[in-house]
Amino acid sequence: GGGGDSSGGGGGGEDGTVMGFSQVGAESGWRTANSNSIQEAATAAGIDLKFSDAQQKQENQIKAIRTYIQQKVDAIAFSPVVETGWEPVLQEAKRANIPVILTDRAVDTTDDSLYATFLGSDFVEEGKKAGDWLVQNSATADTTGDGKINVVELQGTTGAAPAIDRAEGFRDSIASQSNIAITASQTGDFTRDGGKQVMESFLNSNRGQIDVVFAQNDDMGLGALQAIEAAGLVPGKDIKVITVDAVKDGMQALADGKIDFIVECNPLLGPQLMDLTEKVLNGEDVPKRVVTEETTFTPEQAKSVLADRQY
Ligand code: AHR
Repeated sequence: GGGGDSSGGGGGGEDGTVMGFSQVGAESGWRTANSNSIQEAATAAGIDLKFSDAQQKQENQIKAIRTYIQQKVDAIAFSPVVETGWEPVLQEAKRANIPVILTDRAVDTTDDSLYATFLGSDFVEEGKKAGDWLVQNSATADTTGDGKINVVELQGTTGAAPAIDRAEGFRDSIASQSNIAITASQTGDFTRDGGKQVMESFLNSNRGQIDVVFAQNDDMGLGALQAIEAAGLVPGKDIKVITVDAVKDGMQALADGKIDFIVECNPLLGPQLMDLTEKVLNGEDVPKRVVTEETTFTPEQAKSVLADRQY
């Protein structure tokens, strides 16, 4: 075992470890980068990866996990599309003695014996960082000049950990500011199309009153930019835009001044996932929670890192 590209024998990756991975879907640029990272890291670690895409449907994920159990894979990893409803299938994996590693998103359960470890971001913290930026920049965020900052929110997939937690962190951080209010909030399913459509309807009903969009991922933010421009408004000027992820398209829009601030969510979880899996299979102790390190980006910072951005 050991690093992602360890060589030599021993338990873990080199001797035919089979991992079943159930991915959420292909809803966003972030997800594509995440899937690539997992597939590349499995190859590098010599792990035989069975990979399935659930198209954002929990039933598909449960089916995939049951198939992996039947196939007697060595380990199962998955990124749960929503937080609740996993106990029965996780019990089945436990009875079959197959360790489960949660990747990217958490499940809502009181029984933490149902998974070996959870690797991913602190989504509450991400939401807080977005809110903190708004509080610190409230002087320029009142684009309508009425002394109040009206925020519309594009939420991620309903019931998903990042949607629930980013909403919570954002609200925590703006709670003490009486001049900042969330005036509308709706899901755009973490997709570009969803973000565009919801933003169109927000603009139709609140035109002239929206100061800020908080999009819970870059793709929805990029969709919102299209809607804002189609309405004859200038993103970054007439409406401030805050997003989460920092994928290349988002960073380009940030560098162009159309997005104002991006909170990073790191999709490159593959190497750490393979490393944790090998440790678990070797019976080594692993932390129950592994939090990804992340930063934030202003337009200036986006300009300086854009050329080297891998995804
Ligand atoms: O779970 C991570 C989130 O899922 C990303 O922020 C979003 O882009 C993706 O769809």
